[in-house]
Amino acid sequence: MEVIICKTAEEASRLAADMIAGLVKKNPKCVLGLATGSTPVKMYAELAKDVKAKKISFKNVKSWNLDEYYGLAPTHDQSYRYFMNENFFDLIDIDKKNTHVLNGLAKDWKKEVKAYEAAIAKAGGIDLQVLGIGSDGHIAFNEPGSALTSRTRLVSLTPQTIKDNARFFKKAADVPKYALSMGVGTICEAKTVVLLAFGKNKADAVKGAVEGGISQYCTASALQMHQDAWFFCDEEAASKLKLKKYYAWRGLEELARR
Ligand code: GLP
Repeated sequence: MEVIICKTAEEASRLAADMIAGLVKKNPKCVLGLATGSTPVKMYAELAKDVKAKKISFKNVKSWNLDEYYGLAPTHDQSYRYFMNENFFDLIDIDKKNTHVLNGLAKDWKKEVKAYEAAIAKAGGIDLQVLGIGSDGHIAFNEPGSALTSRTRLVSLTPQTIKDNARFFKKAADVPKYALSMGVGTICEAKTVVLLAFGKNKADAVKGAVEGGISQYCTASALQMHQDAWFFCDEEAASKLKLKKYYAWRGLEELARR
């Protein structure tokens, strides 16, 4: 696990975008795992700039998203499909047919998650997975207590996650209590993982993920076992790390060596 610490979220977003742009240039048919939440929005905007400047093209890229609220239609303005269209897919040249988001209205969710995993496998697996992190250290919707080997499935959200995400809904009661989510095991199979964390609200989660024990209590800590996982943080999110000064210079050197 490498921790890249930048002064600002803007700087960190650009560095993370460079990693993705580099992959897309090298392998225009790559498979991306994508994330929602406010954190990756700046990075998506940077990638959209690169497309506009004709530096990269997503024409042949395929994507699978991490998760979706269970019970929300793809047209609902808080669904993750809607979010992806608004914040990324509509800004780039990707073929929407190549973008996949779990169907929040699937009646048979078991069939839905099985088909989702099978489609990822058929595409050759995820080359690079983008992640945010919940304030309790969750990745996708793998809340504390999720097995570190878990697969895509129906999950129950914690009161904390419902509270954190209530800001996007009219009231907390409107936040769905369930979601379909890739599992920690599914995520860890991606060849490269890029996790973004910004702001002081994420400092405890980052501390737990990077310097805590590997535990289902903080599912991002499973990335300590991953061979190519990169955390892009701003100074606030990295503020509780014991070895932050060391990571600050080592991370950038590792990035340059990559
Ligand atoms: C939700 C999503 C996660 C995301 C998290 C943090 O729980 N399922 O994928 O990382 O929110 O969101 P934000 O980036 O808005 O803080």
